[in-house]
Amino acid sequence: MYKVKELQEITNNYIAENKIGREPFSLYDPINYTLLSGGKRIRPVLVLMSCNLFSEDINQTIDAAVGLETFHNFTLLHDDIMDKADVRRGNPTVHKKWNENTAILSGDAMFIKAYDFFLKCKSPNLHEILTVFNNTALEVCEGQQYDMEFENRDQVSETEYIRMIELKTSVLLAAALKIGAIIGGANNSDAELLYEFGRNIGLAFQLQDDLLDVYGNTEVFGKMIGGDIVANKKTFLLIKAKELAKSKEREILEKYLNDKSCLREEKVKAITSIYDNINIKNITQNKIQEYHNKALEFLNKVSVSDERKIELKKLTEKLIQREK
Ligand code: IPE
Ligand code: IPE
Ligand code: MG
Ligand code: MG
Ligand code: MG
Repeated sequence: MYKVKELQEITNNYIAENKIGREPFSLYDPINYTLLSGGKRIRPVLVLMSCNLFSEDINQTIDAAVGLETFHNFTLLHDDIMDKADVRRGNPTVHKKWNENTAILSGDAMFIKAYDFFLKCKSPNLHEILTVFNNTALEVCEGQQYDMEFENRDQVSETEYIRMIELKTSVLLAAALKIGAIIGGANNSDAELLYEFGRNIGLAFQLQDDLLDVYGNTEVFGKMIGGDIVANKKTFLLIKAKELAKSKEREILEKYLNDKSCLREEKVKAITSIYDNINIKNITQNKIQEYHNKALEFLNKVSVSDERKIELKKLTEKLIQREK
């Protein structure tokens, strides 16, 4: 069985080998800048690992893996415009380093390059794989749309939030596992179980991302802390805080959510301090654990030996304890 580190390396090498070096450089430089700027490579590693559960030949799935990573990186370019985020992976975001139009167009080109990678995949099940990919990509757009709409809505329920992160984040992790399984030769039932495993891990993963957006360390996380608070994102933390706050704290929350002119630092500090008082960090961590446990129930049912699942379990544990 391959280890996570090896799979990350395989992914990075393949990305480096497939750099686009042609004109106009102003279109392709931002793409290479993004794809070569690190990142945890979770989605391609999940594709490769899922294939590896059923097959020793993981080469057959490297194109799908890197196709999915290219798609993911494309969504980040557009997401950073939408979220007005200036830093990612410790570097200026594309729309900051270049400009918004560049981030839009280079992003579009990346989406197309993602299909180029998929087209190189020699699986006889390419039609099914592309169907999974297309459904997922559209769901990501749906999730992103909800995410933006929620910024301007006062009331968002926990259920609505979970559905939103399922769409914007989880389904892509789920699809990574399913696609890897299909290429590796899994039967339908195992491919579906892995999809469900990924869906739950993805929920835990986005909850952890929301947590790090408040409690992370900028240098390690590579993104600006407090971005979600500034944008009035309806994260799990905010939804729970509104639910649990005493009337005085709720008033303060409302005041900052409606105040468009206050300073960034002041708002982040005030809302974080309310989160601290209600111990939102703990509540969120419990929720993460809940989804992690649910995920494992699905993985346990996959019809391969426990031994073959060890790396995947290790990876998911790391994901929900991560600092970046
Ligand atoms: C960032 O994804 C977007 C989310 C869904 C939270 P990652 O945290 O996987 O970002 P990279 O690719 O490792 O930078
Ligand atoms: C990102 O969610 C989801 C997608 C990019 C589709 P976030 O907006 O929370 O991701 P980060 O925090 O910017 O990485
Ligand atoms: Mg976003
Ligand atoms: Mg964002
Ligand atoms: Mg985030």
